[in-house]
Amino acid sequence: MNEKNILVAGGAGYIGSHMVLALLEKGYHPVTYDNLSEGHREAVLGGTFIEGDLADGDKLREVFRNYEISAVMHFAGNCYVGESMTNPRKYYENNVANTFNLVNVMQEMNINRFIFSSSCATYGNPIHLPLTEDHPQNPINSYGNTKLVVEKILQDYGRAYNFDSISLRYFNAAGADPQGRTGEGHEPETHLIPNVLDAALGISESVKIFGSDYDTPDGTCVRDYIHVMDLAQAHLLALEKLINGYKTDFFNLGNGEGYSNKQVIETARKVTGKDIKVEMTSRRVGDPPILVGSSEKARSELGWKPEFYTLEKIIETAWNWHLKLKAKQ
Ligand code: UFG
Repeated sequence: MNEKNILVAGGAGYIGSHMVLALLEKGYHPVTYDNLSEGHREAVLGGTFIEGDLADGDKLREVFRNYEISAVMHFAGNCYVGESMTNPRKYYENNVANTFNLVNVMQEMNINRFIFSSSCATYGNPIHLPLTEDHPQNPINSYGNTKLVVEKILQDYGRAYNFDSISLRYFNAAGADPQGRTGEGHEPETHLIPNVLDAALGISESVKIFGSDYDTPDGTCVRDYIHVMDLAQAHLLALEKLINGYKTDFFNLGNGEGYSNKQVIETARKVTGKDIKVEMTSRRVGDPPILVGSSEKARSELGWKPEFYTLEKIIETAWNWHLKLKAKQ
C-alpha cells in the first residue's frame, strides 16, 4: 500500500475532476476510475486514468493491487433529484449496489479508508435551520434515500470492521476551478446555475423556475451553494484525518447561507451583465423548500475553511468555465 495513491471513483465527473487537481497539488497520485457514463476523459487532468465500472469487482481488485491504493474517494454517484424520482432503479443500482460492491472489495483487500460523497438531500424537509448533522434524516426523494442507505452501511461497517469512512454531506455544489482548467459539464444539465448561465448565453431562451409557491421569503426554493474547490479541500482534510487514525464520521459541507432561486438569477445577472429571462413553472417533484446547513463541525473537527464563499464568486468561476465550454461546443 502506498499512502499517496488514492482511487478517485468518478474522477472524470464534475466534482471528481476538481478533486484530481486538488490531490495533485498536494502531492498525491490520483488514480481515476470512471466508466465515462457521465464523465469526460479530457476532464482528468493528471494522475492515472482507468476506464472501469464499479460493478466490476475483478477490475477493482486488479486496480487496488496494481496501484497499491491506500484510500478511496467516491464521486461516481448519479445525482439528479428529478431523475431519481422517475427512475429509482438506476439510483439504487449505481448509488447503492455499486457502492456496496466497491466497499466490499475494499474491505476484502484491507483498504480501510473511504470518503463518501453524501448529501444534504439525506435530511429531507428541515425541522430546524440551519441543518446540523444531528438533524433527523428523512429524505423526500430517491436520490437522498440512496445516499442515506450508504451512510448506514458505512456506519455499520465502521462499528463492526476495521473500516473507517467519512461521509461528506454536500449542500449545493457549484462553481468551477478558478484557473479555468475544469468545471461542470453534465449532459443533460439539470442544475440551476449552469441552466441560468445557458440562458445568459442565449443557448436557451429562458431559465425555468420550478415553483414559486413555497413557504420561503420569495416563494422559490432556497439552497446553500458551496464552491466545488472548497469541497475538494474538505476531502483532503478528511483524507488526512483518516490517515491519522480518525474513525467513521460524517460532516455537512455548506456555506451556511441560503439563496433563493430568484436570488441566484439576480446574482447571475449582475455577474454576467446579461439579461436572463425567467419562466415560472410548477414545482419539481422531490424538492425540499429550504436546505441550509451548519458546517461548524467540519470547521472545528477538520479545520475546514471555505475560501470561495460568496455566491458572486461561485457564479463568476462557473461563468468563466461556461463561456469556455460553450465556445468549444
Ligand atoms: N431549479 C430550477 N430550475 C432549473 C434547475 C433547478 O428552478 O432549471 C431549482 C430546483 O427546483 C431547486 C434549485 O433550483 O429548487 C436547485 O436545484 P438543483 O437541481 O441545482 O440542485 P438540488 O437542490 O436539487 O440539489 C440536490 C441536493 C444536493 C445534491 C444535488 C445533486 O440538494 O445535495 O441535488 O443533483 F448534491
